[in-house]
Amino acid sequence: MCGIIGYIGNNNALPMLIDGLKRLEYRGYDSSGIAILRDGEIHLQKKVGKVSELEKAAPLKDYTGSIGIGHTRWATHGEPSDVNAHPHMSNDGTIAMIHNGIIENYHTIKTKLEKLGYKFKSATDTEALVHLIQEMKKVSGDLETAVRLALRQVDGTYGIAVVSSQEPDKIIVARKGSPLIIGVGENEHYVASDAAAIIPYTRQVVYMEDGEIAVLTKNTFETKTIDNVEKIKQIHEVTFDIEEIEKGGYDHFMLKEIMEQPETLRNAMRGRVLLNEGNAKLSGLNDVTLLLENAQRIIITACGTSWHAGLVGEYMLEQYAKVSVEVEYASEFRYRNPIIKPTDVLFLISQSGETADTLAALREAKKKGASVLGICNVVGSTIARESQGGVYIHAGPEIGVASTKAFSSQLVVLSLVTLLIAHQRESVSHDVLMTMCKELLDLPSKVEKILKDTSQIEKIAEEFKTSNNFLYLGRGYNFPVALEGALKLKEISYIHAEGYPAAEMKHGPIALIDENMPVVVIATKDSTYEKIISNIQEVKARKGKVIAIANDGDDHIDTLADYVIKVPHTLDMLSPILNVIPLQLLSYFIAVKRGCNVDQPRNLAKSVTVE
Ligand code: F6R
Repeated sequence: MCGIIGYIGNNNALPMLIDGLKRLEYRGYDSSGIAILRDGEIHLQKKVGKVSELEKAAPLKDYTGSIGIGHTRWATHGEPSDVNAHPHMSNDGTIAMIHNGIIENYHTIKTKLEKLGYKFKSATDTEALVHLIQEMKKVSGDLETAVRLALRQVDGTYGIAVVSSQEPDKIIVARKGSPLIIGVGENEHYVASDAAAIIPYTRQVVYMEDGEIAVLTKNTFETKTIDNVEKIKQIHEVTFDIEEIEKGGYDHFMLKEIMEQPETLRNAMRGRVLLNEGNAKLSGLNDVTLLLENAQRIIITACGTSWHAGLVGEYMLEQYAKVSVEVEYASEFRYRNPIIKPTDVLFLISQSGETADTLAALREAKKKGASVLGICNVVGSTIARESQGGVYIHAGPEIGVASTKAFSSQLVVLSLVTLLIAHQRESVSHDVLMTMCKELLDLPSKVEKILKDTSQIEKIAEEFKTSNNFLYLGRGYNFPVALEGALKLKEISYIHAEGYPAAEMKHGPIALIDENMPVVVIATKDSTYEKIISNIQEVKARKGKVIAIANDGDDHIDTLADYVIKVPHTLDMLSPILNVIPLQLLSYFIAVKRGCNVDQPRNLAKSVTVE
């Protein structure tokens, strides 16, 4: 996730900015940059890669100056490159800006500004805002008003810091939906996206709220609303240490990432759900609209958790878009000489965008003439670059090795792809598509509800932390969720776990069931509910211990299962997004109680770039 740092005071800004950027490295980034004000000019340096590259390119002797801003970028619009890195400059070279968040209407702003003669250098959404500030300055005359006027025209989220060579005694900062704090020092002020960047310098901070703008000078800070109403802010003392900040106050990155899901789901949907039209707007697929409309078959290929997302995608696309879908492990696809027709479209799902098997499958399919599209998290990753089009899931960097928030965002994106193709093909009614949109938009608040109180799941974890085996059962849309629940448990707690389509149980695994076998059953109210209830009874008849995931208000299941974790109801196709969350938490708590290294489990790597 992008990081912001800024300094105004009496010291050289550069060493502090570089140090702050390094402290933000834990958030994940692909490029960095700084802008320093000196002698009425902005000195800019931006580099793709590590902050150490930037450090080499910006020696202190050339970058002295006591006002500056710095940024680590995690690409969302435009691949990682020197040009796309922040800060971005206005066309007249007088304003530099760094930005976290997404300007949703940047395309509209950009088109207007281009008509006025503005030239764009980068592929970022941010650049539209810095040019808009230059344009507003013609009206307002001063930087602060220009920033306010520009921000009023922006849809989306931002944490920004802006400097101008024409007003070289201030930094303007503003926040909406992207965290920002002001650090208060002696005759100096800082701005940062999180306290980790500045606590070696000051622990006195002001937390900015959405819709606020502040003007920082060496000796003062003034806070207002975007509508120009003055705000008095309190200074707080930061008491926690750096490691705690990096993990957002959680004990592990995995837990932080599980808890982030309401927000990451919102980000995956932001600006993409067209409620009234019952459609999805996925600009990365604009160039392949005809291809999708005419595809005879969709092949989804991926590994691990991403493959599980693909299985859910198969159910969605076949049910609603009425297109035939095959899902295959990327590692198998590449070696089995698959039959590919020019009318086939291949979707590759990969959080990292670098998984060797998935990449090899992409190249194999391309060689055979298929059209290849990526669903990736990491912008500019190899799979994203080598695909003909695709959709980013915008989950932000996933640091815990076990994938959590990427999975739920992959499912959201697959729902959006389903919506788009179903709309194109008119394969279901407008009402059905509208309901899908509405239910999608309701998901984040339902996830919030599940995450509000995790104590019951923690208690269940305590009960089963010494088990040696687990069985996970699900049907229909929730069969892949059973696979995913089992994978999460085995990879971080080292307990043997297997996922099965519930009906398969009696074809073998039922032999394993006795009073020592915990069986997690996903039993939310969907079209297979009655059947899964019978499966629960089969387990109970053999003295197995049932942990059920069921819907709020389902009292019947309380009488059958040993433990019931309740989740809100949604459409069958979206239920995996809710049902997987208790399973992520269950694995997490069991692993913690077993003393396992949750974020970096043994033998596993975050990105598997070897065969
Ligand atoms: C499991 C997990 C792995 C990955 C797999 C594919 O928690 O993280 O199974 O899902 O290695 O990785 P990506 O999605 O980066 O291609």
